[in-house]
Amino acid sequence: MENMNWSDLAFGYMKTDYNVRCYYRDGKWGELEVSSSEIINIHMAATCLHYGQESFEGLKAFKGKDGKIRVFRMDENGKRMQASSRGIKMAELPVEMFEEAVRKVVKLNERFVPPYESGAALYIRPLMIGLGAQVGVKPAPEYMFMIFVTPVGPYFKGGFKPSKVCIMREYDRAAPQGTGTIKVGGNYAASLVAGEKAKEKGYAAVLYLDPKEKKYLDECGPANFFGIRGNSYITPQSHSILPSITNKSLQQLAADMGLTVERRPVPVEELATFDEAAECGTAAVIAPISQIDDLDIDKSYVIAKDGKPGPVCEKLYNKLRGIQYGDEPDTYGWVTIIE
Ligand code: PLP
Ligand code: COI
Repeated sequence: MENMNWSDLAFGYMKTDYNVRCYYRDGKWGELEVSSSEIINIHMAATCLHYGQESFEGLKAFKGKDGKIRVFRMDENGKRMQASSRGIKMAELPVEMFEEAVRKVVKLNERFVPPYESGAALYIRPLMIGLGAQVGVKPAPEYMFMIFVTPVGPYFKGGFKPSKVCIMREYDRAAPQGTGTIKVGGNYAASLVAGEKAKEKGYAAVLYLDPKEKKYLDECGPANFFGIRGNSYITPQSHSILPSITNKSLQQLAADMGLTVERRPVPVEELATFDEAAECGTAAVIAPISQIDDLDIDKSYVIAKDGKPGPVCEKLYNKLRGIQYGDEPDTYGWVTIIE
């Protein structure tokens, strides 16, 4: 990849050499297949197309100073994909097969893992869909699991530069007892109208409130939310947010730094008390929030007055990235080196 300008990568799709695929038929998963085609050929009556039987994951591989490739917490993504399968009645893929597929697809596309200095990473996108011709609303007889990879830069334009988010009560991304806790395509379809509206108004994302009472913070469209107040790391607990692996990791790192971790319902008004706030996720990493505008009641919460990331966010960001790129010791066994 001699001519690549790795440092200028955005969060987008680029063709790589191979993807891997595996089919569930007659009640069992088959062998992992390698393909160099970007196309999948499926029946027009497949359940994924009509009834949203689809789930996906997102994780990253990083190249270290030592030239080694590290994948972050892939077992957690494998487990979450199983939870997604249970949530929409798809076949569950064993975590070992998920991990084998990740190892294989990263190894096969090794030349697309951005160099250490670029700060970019290889995004790994596992996908599961319901196949088989069917018109009635019921689970598919067959499933396809696949993973493609693509090199990516920052998800939000400024990267680690703080950006504004907004609250809009007329939109929900998930129902109170719905699919918010799993990673299914429908949640993202449901977030598009509000997401585009927010972007038009100059916001990086929507900060959703709990869909039942609209009293508490939920999460952002593509990432979890946390706030820092004094010595506390505060993050919402809710029945409609995705359990973020990044957030879970940051809670551990925050505790290790001596912060008190609070995972509980967070009333909207508490935004006024935060010293720092951020979105966190695989794609977003830590994306600091400078200001939250509650558009329904015309109220602004200014968090980063100087437009700079706060010291705790910065410390957490450096620690997390350090582990991911192999600069910091991997105390918890979060990293898998791809040999
Ligand atoms: N919340 C939503 C809605 C997401 O799509 C994501 C991205 O995966 C996250 C949170 C962050 O989760 P993770 O840290 O596991 O990537
Ligand atoms: C991720 O962070 O991996 C995501 O899946 C978020 C978004 C790109 C959907």
